[in-house]
Amino acid sequence: MVCRKLSAAWLFLLCCALAQAAPLPETGANVHQGVASCSNSVCHGKVSPDPQSPVLLNEYRTWLREDYHSRAYKTLSNPQSQRIAQKLGLESAHTAKICLDCHADNVAAPRRGARFDISDGVGCEACHGGSGQWLESHAEAGTSHADNLARGMYPTEAPLQRARLCLSCHLGTTGKFATHEIMGAGHPRLAFDLEVFTENQPRHYKVDADYRERKPYIASVNMWLAGLVVSGMQTMELLQADWFTRESLVPELSFYQCHACHHPMDELRWQAEGGAGALPPGAVRLNDASLVILQSVLDILGSDAAAGLRGGIAALHTASLRDRPAVTAQAAQIHDLLAPLEDELVGQSFSSQEKSALRRGLVQRAASGQYRHFTAAEQAFLAVETLNIVLDDATRLDAAMDAWFATVEDENDFAPLQYAEFARRLQAAL
Ligand code: HEC
Ligand code: HEC
Ligand code: HEC
Ligand code: HEC
Repeated sequence: MVCRKLSAAWLFLLCCALAQAAPLPETGANVHQGVASCSNSVCHGKVSPDPQSPVLLNEYRTWLREDYHSRAYKTLSNPQSQRIAQKLGLESAHTAKICLDCHADNVAAPRRGARFDISDGVGCEACHGGSGQWLESHAEAGTSHADNLARGMYPTEAPLQRARLCLSCHLGTTGKFATHEIMGAGHPRLAFDLEVFTENQPRHYKVDADYRERKPYIASVNMWLAGLVVSGMQTMELLQADWFTRESLVPELSFYQCHACHHPMDELRWQAEGGAGALPPGAVRLNDASLVILQSVLDILGSDAAAGLRGGIAALHTASLRDRPAVTAQAAQIHDLLAPLEDELVGQSFSSQEKSALRRGLVQRAASGQYRHFTAAEQAFLAVETLNIVLDDATRLDAAMDAWFATVEDENDFAPLQYAEFARRLQAAL
């Protein structure tokens, strides 16, 4: 039990070092043995949490009953998926690789064990990694978390690695992506916030004293920021990948603000923008939400990187009016700019003054109309929600938050001026 003897800070560094090398579960070498290998009633399939055990042991129940991932494969046979498949000319959604890659643990045949079942959907090993080398050992007395990681368990506790894992499906990668063709056939738009989605999954583990001894504790604010940084970097990687660069007349529209095109023509929204990324009327805007919110965060924290990112976002939009090579080059530059933030923002511990300043700063920017594009507005709302909880100030602001939420609840009805107005009311209540 090496990890137990180390201080929390060393544990954090050790686990980060091990985590950095980890391949995503879908690409790791380990065999995936299927949910049936985990769900036995003496393993993770107990009816209720086991007070004797460091982990809950009822994870399977939570996953099966409350976690949408357990129905991800079933979704592929519902009427919505049938319509999508039919429009795309697929034989069926539940046999199509493009759908299974995100809606199941779709590893190649040689990496499927005897009890592997594709109909498990997004099962335990889609997140925790193939258990081929650790299924037996991880339950033995004296096995540390570091031992598990060394045998190929995925470091879901590490914020950047968790972000990469979730975003591999909730945003897409160079290998799998929900294109505008798929959206046009009826797939929902993808949106993500690491902290909020971690809460909503819901959790099938308890971060108690015993957990903190085994694994590094990551505060909600850092989890939220890890999601933003990785989402920004992954978007920049996608902009340099085949999805975006292929030679067709129309670029891949899933990289753009959906509502740049999908809103009524009699609603004139365009305004000259003083902020980062001004575009002329009639331009299609790349979806820059995670970059914009990250830029606000850096600005509020007084970081040296704020100005660089602001310029980077503006240059990306200018490039988007030119050609794809210009976008690709600018995406690479922003990617370089974000890379050092991974450790900087995610490892930083924030005082309550800083958390308050972050909340005030985001609400003030929303109130002054800086988040006029839906995806940034949505991200700002989710961030403020997290900060309210972190500051132990959620109940007091319930009514003001509900009213603000009503302005982003239905993306088809999003009205930027109303969003700013309700942010001003929240600002007054802070
Ligand atoms: C292998 C792909 C994959 C991975 C990895 C993945 N998800 Fe998902 N997730 C999905 C799919 C597909 C759905 C939709 C399932 C359905 O409704 O059929 C989903 C749904 C969700 C939902 C419910 C969304 C809603 O509309 O309420 C949450 C929350 C969520 N995921 C959180 C996470 C988090 C947090 C992570 C990382 C720890 C993660 N997901 C990793 C594929 C994935
Ligand atoms: C890049 C990953 C990805 C790909 C590719 C993908 N999906 Fe999804 N899909 C998701 C995620 C993530 C969600 C959950 C979105 C959310 O609620 O935030 C989802 C949600 C859905 C939903 C809505 C589920 C619900 O209950 O609301 C349907 C239906 C669906 N997908 C069908 C398909 C079909 C059919 C295909 C293949 C043509 C496909 N998906 C390809 C990631 C993907
Ligand atoms: C969508 C991703 C996802 C899926 C699917 C998933 N988990 Fe997890 N799991 C997580 C995350 C994130 C954590 C929290 C980080 C951590 O402790 O590693 C976690 C934590 C755990 C823990 C650690 C608890 C602790 O105290 O150390 C266990 C045990 C676990 N999961 C078992 C399971 C089992 C069993 C299944 C399948 C029935 C499953 N998980 C499915 C993402 C997932
Ligand atoms: C550059 C403009 C543009 C952007 C950006 C764009 N779309 Fe589209 N979208 C279109 C066009 C054009 C069509 C085809 C319209 C038609 O068939 O009537 C379409 C069709 C669709 C349809 C099907 C509509 C129908 O009536 O069948 C959906 C759903 C859709 N898009 C969703 C999205 C989502 C989600 C995004 C963002 C990820 C997005 N679009 C981004 C232009 C755009």
